[in-house]
Amino acid sequence: MRLSLGIAASLLALTASGATLDHRQSSNDTDYKVGFTPLKTQWTDTVGTNPWPEFPRPRLQRSAWKNLNGVWRYRNTDNTALSNPPFGQRLESPVLVPSCLESALSGVTGKNRTYSWYQTSFDIPSSWPSENKAILNFGAVDYEATVFVNGKNAGFHRGGYFEFSVDTTPYLKAGGANELLIHVYDPTDLGDIQIPIGKQTLNRGGMIWYTPCSGIWQTVFLESTPTEYIAKLDLVADMNGQVNVTVHSSTNSSSSYEITIHEQNSEDTKATATGSSGAPFTFKVDSPRLWTPTEPNLYNITIKFGSDTVQSYTGFRTISRGVINGIQRPLLNGDFIFPFGVLDQGFWPDGIYTPPSVEAMRYDLQVLKRYGFNALRKHIKVEPALFYRACDEIGLLVIQDMPSLRPDLPDPNNQCGSIRLNPAAQPEFDRQLGLLIEQLKNYPSIFAWTIYNEEWGQGTSAPWPEFRLTDYVRSLDPTRLINAVSGWTDHTAGDFDDNHHYSTPQCGTPFWSKQGPGADSAYDARRIGLQGEFGGIGQYVDFEHSWYKDLDHQTSYELTNSTWAWNYRCQDLMRQLREQVELFSCSGGVWTQTTDVEGEVNGMMTYDRAIIRMNETMWKEETTKLYEAAARRANESSIAVRGMGLEGVQYGMP
Ligand SMILES: *[C@@H]1O[C@H](CO)[C@@H](O)[C@H](O)[C@H]1NC(C)=O
Ligand SMILES: *[C@@H]1O[C@H](CO)[C@@H](O)[C@H](O)[C@H]1NC(C)=O
Ligand SMILES: *[C@@H]1O[C@H](CO)[C@@H](O)[C@H](O)[C@H]1NC(C)=O
Ligand SMILES: *[C@@H]1O[C@H](CO)[C@@H](O)[C@H](O)[C@H]1NC(C)=O
Ligand SMILES: *[C@@H]1O[C@H](CO)[C@@H](O)[C@H](O)[C@H]1NC(C)=O
Ligand SMILES: *[C@@H]1O[C@H](CO)[C@@H](O)[C@H](O)[C@H]1NC(C)=O
Ligand SMILES: *[C@@H]1O[C@H](CO)[C@@H](O)[C@H](O)[C@H]1NC(C)=O
Ligand SMILES: *[C@@H]1O[C@H](CO)[C@@H](O)[C@H](O)[C@H]1NC(C)=O
Repeated sequence: MRLSLGIAASLLALTASGATLDHRQSSNDTDYKVGFTPLKTQWTDTVGTNPWPEFPRPRLQRSAWKNLNGVWRYRNTDNTALSNPPFGQRLESPVLVPSCLESALSGVTGKNRTYSWYQTSFDIPSSWPSENKAILNFGAVDYEATVFVNGKNAGFHRGGYFEFSVDTTPYLKAGGANELLIHVYDPTDLGDIQIPIGKQTLNRGGMIWYTPCSGIWQTVFLESTPTEYIAKLDLVADMNGQVNVTVHSSTNSSSSYEITIHEQNSEDTKATATGSSGAPFTFKVDSPRLWTPTEPNLYNITIKFGSDTVQSYTGFRTISRGVINGIQRPLLNGDFIFPFGVLDQGFWPDGIYTPPSVEAMRYDLQVLKRYGFNALRKHIKVEPALFYRACDEIGLLVIQDMPSLRPDLPDPNNQCGSIRLNPAAQPEFDRQLGLLIEQLKNYPSIFAWTIYNEEWGQGTSAPWPEFRLTDYVRSLDPTRLINAVSGWTDHTAGDFDDNHHYSTPQCGTPFWSKQGPGADSAYDARRIGLQGEFGGIGQYVDFEHSWYKDLDHQTSYELTNSTWAWNYRCQDLMRQLREQVELFSCSGGVWTQTTDVEGEVNGMMTYDRAIIRMNETMWKEETTKLYEAAARRANESSIAVRGMGLEGVQYGMP
């Protein structure tokens, strides 16, 4: 099928460079400059004042849009500000949107930015149909945003990692510039506040906590939609060619739409179907090429819903678990797949949470892929949509963590102590967990969800929250595996038995240390054995490539003093993990970590991405051997450990 001219043009436009799409108003940005950072990347000075120009939402693309990124005005404020917004004033400081206020790229490079005002203005392109709506979209604002358009409160959002939209239509002027003023509140871990923050902290010592991120840290864009439009699109496709789609109408109506799956790299039709909005609809595509990390086949999609036309895409694959030769295994398209990934934290020395550019972000993923990894664990952070699109394209399975609550809340009953959870924080954690699943469940590369990391914010009394939350996640997305607790206290919820062992792995192994339920590394054969974190071998690094310019602040679980020694120790650990695959029930591993982060110098790359520590030959060989060992295990009819006199071990024997 040929697409209509309009759609073909929009497909073209979406692949064109941002320059042709960037209709934003020129702003007075003469006082913006990159702030101080102890460490730059090769991208820091190339960001300029036109950051992230790409269309930011690949799974729901429209052709009439306008990027609002660039230099905005900014004011640090206080807790009284929201009652007296500074309408019609020019705020004194420049700020680069999107960026974290604490980052060098923001130009603010601030600390403790709890209350902030952001200001810009926009006009509506005259080419947009005048009867259309103008929807303002935010990729993420940390932590609460109150949006004013022309002096009117147009919307509010809470949750630092999640996208949201505001309909500006009722507040627009007939012509000319519209004032956009945004109040942001971000307490991070101030006082006894407990909200999802991941690794951010205002003021905590110690190796694993980093600079926080406040404010508008992902792309802001405006789009033109018909009065009734697709507000949300849920779409997954499986190994049998079945597509399960729900089109959510902005008016909650039940109206028909036409969905077209295109042939690969073509605008021709592979399948077409007609569904109704507001309810799940399934149809079948004949013999699609399946999506796997080695062959990440994707298909473009067009949906026509009244006068709204959107582009999307999907990959056909099925994720499940099953018993293969007596062992619980994760399956991709019915076959045992051994996900071997890195802990990917997504921090940057110049942008903190905001990668300097899409190219920079993709660079990390391409390095991982080149050295043999087929997966990553997106660690207690949520990335821009284009990150997941890149994983879909490059072929990396994503184990997606929920951003955790801080683990060290001051104990109200003991001034020196700390507690894991203020029960009052639980409902908001649960709500944001729902946002996470809804936002990311369409990406083919999402393989598993992690609810809790290492007890952080995990309730300490029965009924253990992870059972209820596992059911909740399953109800929102029955098509992925669930890692209820990654590391530490496990009460047997979810699909994985995941322990963390620095540096030596103990994956699916029953015999090393303490046995029994709740033990750190005993293995529960009813679930999939996963080494959710290990590695962490560090290496002292030249100050030129280090966030801290002294050795005392360069830390890890184990430190080496040369890349040769680093690779030597890594190879040793890779052999140990492989043996655990060969002998026991190990079904996946996550190596710490993609890059150094601030004082934690145990990355596959330095924090500035300038040095790749990995010996390419060694890592390719070792990752290949690991996958081969897993593939052989899938074929074996008996288990090697049976010959080792360990048959009597009660807990965890297959
Ligand atoms: C742009 O900003 C500079 C510095 O803040 C100021 O002096 C100048 O008047 C501004 N120009 C316009 C057109 O607003
Ligand atoms: C930021 O806030 C933290 C936590 O309240 C405090 O300890 C620290 O001194 C503050 N830093 C600055 C620069 O104000
Ligand atoms: C399709 O998705 C809906 C909503 O997520 C779900 O309730 C339904 O079970 C799915 N159907 C199939 C056939 O996967
Ligand atoms: C559509 O339904 C959702 C969920 O029930 C609700 O939040 C929203 O307000 C409804 N929108 C309209 C336009 O009725
Ligand atoms: C999807 O469409 C884009 C153009 O919008 C094209 O660049 C890309 O190759 C297409 N992908 C597939 C898998 O056909
Ligand atoms: C690591 O090696 C460097 C360069 O050889 C040396 O200057 C430094 O003292 C060594 N550091 C440690 C902790 O051994
Ligand atoms: C890299 O690893 C390969 C394979 O283990 C080894 O032969 C080679 O010597 C290593 N290179 C360096 C520079 O250590
Ligand atoms: C597994 O067994 C099948 C069928 O016997 C064989 O074709 C395949 O090569 C084996 N794979 C491995 C990794 O041994």
